[in-house]
Amino acid sequence: MLLAGRIILVTGGSRGLGGAMVKAFTREGARVAFNYSSNDADAQATLAAVETAGGFARAYKCSVTDRAGLRSMVRRIEEEVGPVDTLVNNAGVGQVLPLALMEEEDWDRMMDIHVKGAFLTTQACLRGMVKHKRGTILNVSSLAGVRMVKAPVHYCTAKAALRGFTESLAKEIGKYGIVVNAIAPGLLDEGVADNIPATNKADYEANCALGRTGTCAEVAELAALLLSSRNTYMNGATILADGGI
Ligand SMILES: NC(=O)c1ccc[n+]([C@@H]2O[C@H](COP(=O)([O-])OP(=O)(O)OC[C@H]3O[C@@H](n4cnc5c(N)ncnc54)[C@H](OP(=O)(O)O)[C@@H]3O)[C@@H](O)[C@H]2O)c1
Repeated sequence: MLLAGRIILVTGGSRGLGGAMVKAFTREGARVAFNYSSNDADAQATLAAVETAGGFARAYKCSVTDRAGLRSMVRRIEEEVGPVDTLVNNAGVGQVLPLALMEEEDWDRMMDIHVKGAFLTTQACLRGMVKHKRGTILNVSSLAGVRMVKAPVHYCTAKAALRGFTESLAKEIGKYGIVVNAIAPGLLDEGVADNIPATNKADYEANCALGRTGTCAEVAELAALLLSSRNTYMNGATILADGGI
């Protein structure tokens, strides 16, 4: 039980990587709250899977772009689950689009969900962590934000920004006993990668030492380890999980 006694908020925890993390973290003994923005059926399916496995999870419908909504959600989580000591900024969207055809709204939506979303959710949880002088934050970046890979420019820019967010925040709040790291998965077999062209996927597999895309469950296992008390001195780091590119 790597995460026994922990109270974790996973943003975008209804499916994909977030859903896999909710399942892995509850299996490791954590009480988990997650949010999502629109798809109730996915959230219910994840809750049902956790319940079947004997874990504890609660779902909250609230966009990571809604500052007031996030604040009241965190208050409700404190009452219904407990004070959040661990936050995973995972919510995200993909959009396959060349820069030349990108509308301003496309750019803003990508930045709002990935970058502003991490800022707003972290701010909503931070007061409690500072008060308890304890906290762990894991931001979900991407190989696309760390290396030069074929991926949409607004997506890569947002994921690279999360690396800066991770490093600067780690420096700022380490004095309160709060650690901040990021995980940067390579191409996974579901989620935001669903719509990428088949040639990009073939390229990835050809260049990956393991010769395959990863699974959400594999990355979730690594996230559980990174968040656990087995990992106390890593801070401000971005850890790649890409099968070897
Ligand atoms: N899949 C990959 O290959 C891959 C690789 C590297 C990094 N990542 C990163 O992993 C993270 C999860 O991606 P995924 O592939 O698991 O995607 P996914 O299957 O599409 O899941 C995205 C999750 O985010 C939620 N979400 C989207 N917009 C939201 C908003 N405004 N507020 C709150 N929740 C929101 C979705 O719920 P609703 O639909 O209900 O809103 C869903 O729970 C993202 O940050 C992504 O960039 C993915």
